[in-house]
Amino acid sequence: MLIRSASEDDLPGIVEIYNDAVDNTVAIWNNDHVDVNNRRAWLTEHQADGLPILVAVVDDRVAGYASLSHFRDFQGYAHTAENSIYVHPDFQGRGIASALMRSLIDDATGGHLHVIVAAIEGENAASIALHRKLGFVSAGTIPECGTKFGEWLDMHLMYLRLPAE
Ligand SMILES: CC(C)(COP(=O)(O)OP(=O)(O)OC[C@H]1O[C@@H](n2cnc3c(N)ncnc32)[C@H](O)[C@@H]1OP(=O)(O)O)[C@@H](O)C(=O)NCCC(=O)NCCS
Repeated sequence: MLIRSASEDDLPGIVEIYNDAVDNTVAIWNNDHVDVNNRRAWLTEHQADGLPILVAVVDDRVAGYASLSHFRDFQGYAHTAENSIYVHPDFQGRGIASALMRSLIDDATGGHLHVIVAAIEGENAASIALHRKLGFVSAGTIPECGTKFGEWLDMHLMYLRLPAE
């Protein structure tokens, strides 16, 4: 497995993973598919803002990706980012999310970021366990603040305070 910054060539693989999560999970609270143009704009914006998007590549396929995005727009949130982590169903359970998240945290450490927030659907046991394993702490659950597939969804918030270097 190779972990590196995402490039234009990775966008079709990222689109496939994203749209699968739209169709089959409550990890993304959205029903709309994205396309390569949409993800190109997302990649360009992240690159311009110095926010990482990492991919894990296995046998020349994008097996998963992780990113940091602005948490909220006001200036006071300048040192907080929100993470995303997605692994293609064919590659889950092999340590890929752990490796991606460790690289993401390493990238973020020693820079301007102080806290990473993870907003996780309340019943996503795999994601909650993954983040806990990496040092994230639970900050509480907002019940029924989202909806998908005709059900109310809870948001479980977790955070990681980055070590000062
Ligand atoms: C959650 C997700 C990213 C985990 O990816 P993964 O590559 O399978 O995870 P890893 O193999 O690195 O496992 C890391 C840890 O996650 C937890 N975990 C992974 N799969 C799990 C499962 N099915 N049930 C419970 N815990 C699980 C475990 O703590 C595991 O650590 P361990 O192997 O030391 O026990 C992946 O299942 C996924 O992409 N799901 C769909 C999208 C999603 O939910 N993204 C997160 C949105 S907040």
